[in-house]
Amino acid sequence: MSFLAAGVTPFSASAQSPLSFPGKRSLMVHSEFPEDLETPVEAFDSWITPNDTFFVRQHLPRPKVAAAAYRLKVSGMVSSPLDLSLDNLRKMPQVKVAATLECAGNGRSYFRPKLPGLQWTKGAIGNAEWRGVRLTDILKKAGAATAARYGNFNGADVGAGKTPDFIRSIPMRKLMLESTIVALEMNGEPLPEIHGFPARLIVPGWDGASWVKWVNDLKVDEKPDSGFYFGTAYRYPKYAVGPGGAARPEDMEVLEGMAVKSFFTRPADQSKVKAGPVNVQGFAWAGEHRVTRVEISTDGGGKWQDARLGTQNIPFCWRTFQFSFTPPKPGHYVLCSRATDSSGRVQPIEAPWNPPGYLWNSIDRIGIMVEG
Ligand code: MTE
Repeated sequence: MSFLAAGVTPFSASAQSPLSFPGKRSLMVHSEFPEDLETPVEAFDSWITPNDTFFVRQHLPRPKVAAAAYRLKVSGMVSSPLDLSLDNLRKMPQVKVAATLECAGNGRSYFRPKLPGLQWTKGAIGNAEWRGVRLTDILKKAGAATAARYGNFNGADVGAGKTPDFIRSIPMRKLMLESTIVALEMNGEPLPEIHGFPARLIVPGWDGASWVKWVNDLKVDEKPDSGFYFGTAYRYPKYAVGPGGAARPEDMEVLEGMAVKSFFTRPADQSKVKAGPVNVQGFAWAGEHRVTRVEISTDGGGKWQDARLGTQNIPFCWRTFQFSFTPPKPGHYVLCSRATDSSGRVQPIEAPWNPPGYLWNSIDRIGIMVEG
C-alpha cells in the first residue's frame, strides 16, 4: 500500500550518498565496510519497506554464502543433531510473518550528552514480510530437551581484528512462539545477501540484534552465550541513570522488546508548504505491543489531537497514522507526534538517556513553514 500524498516529491536518490551498494538505492552511509546504511525519512512511502530501501547493520565484513554449500547445524541439548541444507529447509512447512525490524541504536544521534557509536537518525528501521520455517519446527525435528533454556545462534560472519564473532542467545520462550522463524525470503524474494542470504532469524517485536543474519549454527543449551554480543553489548540499565550517568555491568539487562515510538514521514522536516490543509503522515510501533493511539500537536506540544490510525493493525508491525492540519495563518509550526500502546506506555518527551544509547523514542518533532 503506497500512501505517498499527492504533490509530495518521491524519494530522490541524488540527495543521498554517491556510493552504491548491491541491490540498494542510495542510502545514508554510516560505514562503508562493513556496510551500515540508513533509510532517509523521505524514502518511507509505503507500509512495506522495499528491499532496495531497507536499512543495513552489520558489525563484521559481510560473508558470501553459496546456496549449495549452506548448512544450518543444530546441536547441543538435542536428541537428533541436524545438518540442514537449504533444500531441507525449503521442504519444511513455510510460514509468512510480517514484522518491523529496528536497530536498538536507532536515534542514538539525538541523545544529549552525545554518545559514541553509529549516529543513526530516524531510519534504522523497516517493515517487511518474511517467509521461512518456524523455529519450533526445527527444534521439534532436533528433539530439543525440555530442560534447554536458550538457543545460541551464530552466523557465517566471523570475528575480525578486535571485533569478536557475532553470537546471540534467545530464550526458549521466544523461540517457541509461532512467529519466530528462520526466514529464507524477504518481501517475496530470496533474502538479499546484505540481509543474510540464505537464512536469517526473524524475532518479531524484539530489537534487531536478535535477528541473526547468515544463520548457520544453533546450539541448544541451558546457558546463554558468554561472548561480547550477548554478555556485554545490547544491554540496558535496570534503573534510570540520568544524562551522562553510568551503570555497573551487573546492572545491565539484556534488551528484549522495543520501545513505543512514532515519527513523521510527511511533510519533510523544515519544508515549505502552501496554505491550505496539510496531509501529515507517519508510522508508529511498539514491539510486542499494539499501537492504540497517536496524538499530534501542531503547536510544539501544547495541545494534542488524535491522528487517524491505519487499518492495517498487524502484530509486530508498525501502523500508519494520518492527520489533516489546516494552519490558521502563514508562519512556522512545530508538529509533534506521540504514540501510546496496548500496555499503556506513552512515548516520552525525552527518551531516557542510557550509556550505550539504545531505544531512543522521544516524541517526534518537525518544523514546517506555511507560505502566505
Ligand atoms: N547478524 C549477523 N550475523 N551479524 C551482525 O552484525 N547485526 C544485527 C542483526 N543481525 C548482525 C546480525 C543487528 S545489530 C541488526 S540491527 C540487524 O541485523 C540489522 O538487519 P539488516 O541489516 O537486515 O537491516
